[in-house]
Amino acid sequence: MSKKNTKNKAGNFAIINWGYSNKSSHKMWFRVVNKVAAQKGKGLFNYLAQGAVTTGGTDIDYDYYLQQVELKKRQQVADYQKQQKEIADLEDFIARNKARVATRNMASSRQKKLDKMNLISKPKEKVKPVFSFLEARTPGKVLFECKDLVIGYDTPLTKPMNLVFERNKKIAIKGVNGLGKTTLLKTLIGMQKAYGGKVEKDPFVEIGFFEQEEVASSKKALDYLWEEFPDRNNGEIRAMLAKCGLTTDHIESLMKVLSGGENAKVRLCKIMNREANVLVLDEPTNHLDVDAKESLQSALKNYKGSVILVSHEPDFYLPIVDEVINLEDCSTKIV
Ligand SMILES: Nc1ncnc2c1ncn2[C@@H]1O[C@H](COP(=O)(O)OP(=O)(O)O)[C@@H](O)[C@H]1O
Ligand SMILES: [Mg+2]
Repeated sequence: MSKKNTKNKAGNFAIINWGYSNKSSHKMWFRVVNKVAAQKGKGLFNYLAQGAVTTGGTDIDYDYYLQQVELKKRQQVADYQKQQKEIADLEDFIARNKARVATRNMASSRQKKLDKMNLISKPKEKVKPVFSFLEARTPGKVLFECKDLVIGYDTPLTKPMNLVFERNKKIAIKGVNGLGKTTLLKTLIGMQKAYGGKVEKDPFVEIGFFEQEEVASSKKALDYLWEEFPDRNNGEIRAMLAKCGLTTDHIESLMKVLSGGENAKVRLCKIMNREANVLVLDEPTNHLDVDAKESLQSALKNYKGSVILVSHEPDFYLPIVDEVINLEDCSTKIV
């Protein structure tokens, strides 16, 4: 990525090339831009209007943008702290002076000032997550063997499948929505009955399962995790969650009020701290931010066990997996 601060050729308007380039760094960059644009819309476009981006799409001074974001964040923190101090001083003055007749008017004018103040919200701390999965003892050579397996509910979703999932292999499963990817994972791990045929499972398989959609619990994130690890103390549970990029506010919030990304981080935290020799992950990146995705990608690369991963993002799974299964090849539906 360019380090120089190039002028925008289109004058006040900057146009981003939203397409894909073949270089993986650029792909990541485009994803970043999409994400930033989605989250910070106005800020990004203000930045673009300053002319730091060319219309070519690849000649973008992203480092400069990050510096500006960091500067802005620091300024917000400083403004917030300054205002908090001013509020505390005003409140102190009012408390000391409102009762006395001689100073009552001054106190009331400060109260008015306080009431009219535009409150600056507390800047959010953001912590980059560091994921890493605990490994369980080595299982047999074949973890799951599907013998003429047909998945489905009232009707079959696939033709008979003969798939073998081996120890230490990392496999991605792709295919359009509604084909049965989630059903296949659930059938493999025994959460869903096979429509036909069978799955043979190694007795030493220890599964870490990330569900695509889990009904959000009405427990606090802290308690949700503590229930899983009752032998740990409060500080240890907080440290586990903090490592996954969750702040004190998140940790003390109910799971159901957390954003999709924060919720996913708590659920990943549960999986990674329990020993497993196969990670079965159903679209784990759906709600994750760029930092969390990068961290999850490197954790899965480093993990020595097997991974069975449903994902729609080749940029995410191709650097991790040994093989890709396209469920469209097995579907009863014409895709
Ligand atoms: N519990 C269920 N009962 C009946 N049909 C279901 C159930 N869960 C999913 N389905 C249907 O099975 C098909 C495959 O679903 P799913 O496995 O979630 O697909 P994918 O994960 O590939 O998007 C869909 O048509 C879906 O509506
Ligand atoms: Mg699914």
